[in-house]
Amino acid sequence: MRIVAENLTFTYNKKSKFAVDALKDVSLTIEEGSFFGIIGHTGSGKSTFIQHLNGIIPVSAGKLTVGDINLADKKKIVKKRYKELRSKVGMVFQYPEYQLFAETVFEDVAFGYRNFYPNSTQEEVKRAVFNALSMVGLVHDCINKSPLDLSGGQKRRVAIAGVLVSNPEVLVLDEPVAGLDPIGKNELMKMLHSLHGSGAVKTVIIVSHDMDEVCENCTDVAVFSEGKIVFSGKPKDVFRRSEEMNGLRLGVPVTGYLIDELKNIGVQIDSDFTREDFAKKIADYYKNIK
Ligand SMILES: Nc1ncnc2c1ncn2[C@@H]1O[C@H](COP(=O)(O)OP(=O)(O)OP(=O)(O)O)[C@@H](O)[C@H]1O
Ligand SMILES: [Mg+2]
Repeated sequence: MRIVAENLTFTYNKKSKFAVDALKDVSLTIEEGSFFGIIGHTGSGKSTFIQHLNGIIPVSAGKLTVGDINLADKKKIVKKRYKELRSKVGMVFQYPEYQLFAETVFEDVAFGYRNFYPNSTQEEVKRAVFNALSMVGLVHDCINKSPLDLSGGQKRRVAIAGVLVSNPEVLVLDEPVAGLDPIGKNELMKMLHSLHGSGAVKTVIIVSHDMDEVCENCTDVAVFSEGKIVFSGKPKDVFRRSEEMNGLRLGVPVTGYLIDELKNIGVQIDSDFTREDFAKKIADYYKNIK
């Protein structure tokens, strides 16, 4: 499902002296099949934007359509589709592991399923839970463990499984790797890629503060600043604007800085900023000067 926002605008505590304009005329299309990165300084509106995508924050001004659901339409018939919307657009909040509450991993993930399919049989629940846990790469032997007995990375996977269990088409994750160690970060990103690559989830949307992570993983990116989108496009085109990205206090991937350093010493490299392409371009450069 395609997501289209047009002039989406949102103010917290409207009409009070504590009013905060969190989104101002945000227009953005997220195509089905993309692995979309949302970046921006703290307080720029990223979380506010993504919480609109499954109706947690209702549209108050502007337009938003998710698949064939027009979220700006306040008719009852549309409101009735919110449950369907939430099963199709799975939302993983920041540090989702803090929301695990059941006695076992099985029960925690099963809760997510029963929430959407209350009339399901025990057999259906079991199948869905096993499937979701295998999608996040968790071995079945932790199924009867208490979530409290798992590592931080495993807990996060259980929380993600609790969202995947309803079989969403779009998976939205707010800073999915925050607080994990470098290897844990890589593994989690790999897992998201395999979910996307296998088609288990059609579209992935991540909020990130890490430009390398966005560059290595995302097909498209939107940059938020002060509630507005300042640039959007392919990562290589966004990261080419290194001065502006530095001005926004976001910076660019490490390869971007290396390309600038090389330029200072007279070596011109034109890369899409991924590590693989950068290494290849350096190798080509040396082959050519031999
Ligand atoms: N519940 C709330 N009530 C009032 N203001 C809020 C609320 N949530 C966010 N804000 C304000 O809205 C603006 C956008 O916040 P938002 O959480 O969307 O930013 P963000 O880009 O996700 O930031 P971060 O990178 O820190 O998570 C900020 O000025 C923030 O202080
Ligand atoms: Mg946020």
